[in-house]
Amino acid sequence: MTTVTAVTVRAPAKVNLLLAVGPVREDGYHDLVNVFHAVSLCDEVTVRGADSGRAGAGEAVIDVRAAAGGLDAHLAEVPRDGSNLAARAARLVAREAGLPEERARVRIRIDKAIPVAGGMAGGSADAAAALLACDALFGAGLDEATLRALAAELGSDVPFPLLGGTAVGTGRGEVLEPVPARGRFHWVFALSERGLSTPAVFGEYDRLRPDAPQPHGDAALTAALGSGDPSALAAALRNDLEPAALSLRPDLARTLEAGREAGALAGIVSGSGPTCAFLAPDADGAAGIAEALEKSGACERALTAYGDVPGARAVTPSTP
Ligand code: C5P
Repeated sequence: MTTVTAVTVRAPAKVNLLLAVGPVREDGYHDLVNVFHAVSLCDEVTVRGADSGRAGAGEAVIDVRAAAGGLDAHLAEVPRDGSNLAARAARLVAREAGLPEERARVRIRIDKAIPVAGGMAGGSADAAAALLACDALFGAGLDEATLRALAAELGSDVPFPLLGGTAVGTGRGEVLEPVPARGRFHWVFALSERGLSTPAVFGEYDRLRPDAPQPHGDAALTAALGSGDPSALAAALRNDLEPAALSLRPDLARTLEAGREAGALAGIVSGSGPTCAFLAPDADGAAGIAEALEKSGACERALTAYGDVPGARAVTPSTP
């Protein structure tokens, strides 16, 4: 029998095509209708058994590196202790598999291509990847429903990167239903040097929208996804959190304007921001918009990507 000593899993970022936000609930969350779209910016998470001595019982040693240019400044914001979502994922898998604490010690390496605290669910992608990697490393054999439940326990956005593609999330965003999307949509993501706190953006939303109605879906968006027509999709993009993100970061208005001027079909704040997402007519258009955005000085760095893409997948189960 061979023993798996390290597992690498790649998981995608998301952009929200529709983020309809209801009033705040008693538990502090908001009911959402959240159409997630997985894009080809992916983090890679490698999990291996920890050297004894470097980690305490059940703790993870975390190493984070930039896998894409322009992300170095972001890395400082990634927690290196047990509060990192990937480390929490490792503990949950160990608990579920009934492992003794010393077997749950792991070293986690995260190669980051997804902006940190950027509204693209990078931390959630890392958590989803760590769930799959630990399941394989520990030989836990957890089924899909269990992994999805653990993901929802870790955060509202964690189940989606397990699934990938395009999907509508209801409840606090964790109850997922796939939505068929035809063809490939081309995106540009304008990165910001500093991140935004998701709870702060939701808090600002509550201040700006004390009268928020119950959220609902949009048939025009579903039709646009089914048609594969980027212009129709551009017309249907909507993010209720955008005014709150702009209120906290007024400079993003200039970034949105610069992308639209550069030929984007639409520009929108991604999730709770501050990353701005631009839908391009095609791949060449996306490259041109990214170049123009960087030249304009309205953003630090612009990355191109396409969607949708599949959810978290193992890249290399390595053996000794
Ligand atoms: O679920 P997660 O821990 O990722 O959520 C982070 C924060 O985002 C929550 O503490 C809450 O402030 C906000 N949130 C919300 N409603 C949601 C999802 C997240 O208010 N549906």
